Amino acid sequence: MPRHLISVFDLDQKDIWKIITTARKLKSSRKKAGMLSGRTLGLIFEKPSTRTTVSFAVAMHQLGGLPLILNAQNLQRKRGESIKDTAKTLSRYVDCTVIRAMKHSDVEEFARNASIPVINGLTDKEHPCQVLGDLLTIAEKKRIKSVKEFAKVKVAFVGDGNNMANSWIAAASILGFKFTLARPKSYGPDAYVLDRAQKSAVKSGASIEVTTDPKEGVRDADVVYTDVWTSMGEEAELEQRKLVFKPYQVNRDLLKNAREGCMVMHCLPAIRGEEITSEIMDNPGSVIFDQAENRLHIQKAILLFLLK
Ligand code: CP
Ligand code: NVA
Repeated sequence: MPRHLISVFDLDQKDIWKIITTARKLKSSRKKAGMLSGRTLGLIFEKPSTRTTVSFAVAMHQLGGLPLILNAQNLQRKRGESIKDTAKTLSRYVDCTVIRAMKHSDVEEFARNASIPVINGLTDKEHPCQVLGDLLTIAEKKRIKSVKEFAKVKVAFVGDGNNMANSWIAAASILGFKFTLARPKSYGPDAYVLDRAQKSAVKSGASIEVTTDPKEGVRDADVVYTDVWTSMGEEAELEQRKLVFKPYQVNRDLLKNAREGCMVMHCLPAIRGEEITSEIMDNPGSVIFDQAENRLHIQKAILLFLLK
């Protein structure tokens, strides 16, 4: 059975640290081309993507392999070919597949039928590659030298409790750090993720809290994280969401409640002036474009973790 990365829960502390350590080495040497020579990575996107597509394609190229970007609109799947048959067929051609899908269950079904590693490139439920890249950014900025040191960090997520927040909750529960989600009532997180995380937190010592109060949520936070108020696929709710999420904007006032000098993070793309002000995005406390860069380094480490 190949190893997949569908959820952050597919990894343990050791795995996460291995991926981060590999990414750090690759980032500092930038010389390891050839490690995936002769291998091919299929990239299937049912939704738009800038960072995930380009970082995986460049990562594969820099490791000596071939990235094949497959627009989901052009695959026979669009005309009704089953996920099972698509997975079985692609497994005969490529060595690994990244999939960004509307439905998490579709990625799970693809993985069940694939004989190659499958990587979740974002679903409605999770975005594991983004969180791994973000953990690399936190490790660098906070000079974390061992996996246990993540426990000293408090991350506050302000905004929608969907895919990004779910993956953060999973990561906190595995690594044992403090995590607070401040979101409007009934905007997540996923009950299954929360339940599983609470169980895994018992072992790791993590503290996971969910509140509706953004000021309370960011109290003492070292990292304040946000994401768009309207995710891909939810565009019909755009106007309603703008109203509901208004008190959850990451701005100068909100950050007065966080730890002084806290780091501001965003997975991007951002809607400047909605979930985050331009002032805060461009402020020296923002590490948002370092996060974007780290997607490249972490993708290499993820590919090596699954393929080597
Ligand atoms: N953060 C992220 O996954 O960006 P893209 O949607 O551009 O891939
Ligand atoms: N929550 C966002 C993340 C984008 C990277 C979305 O799903 O659109």
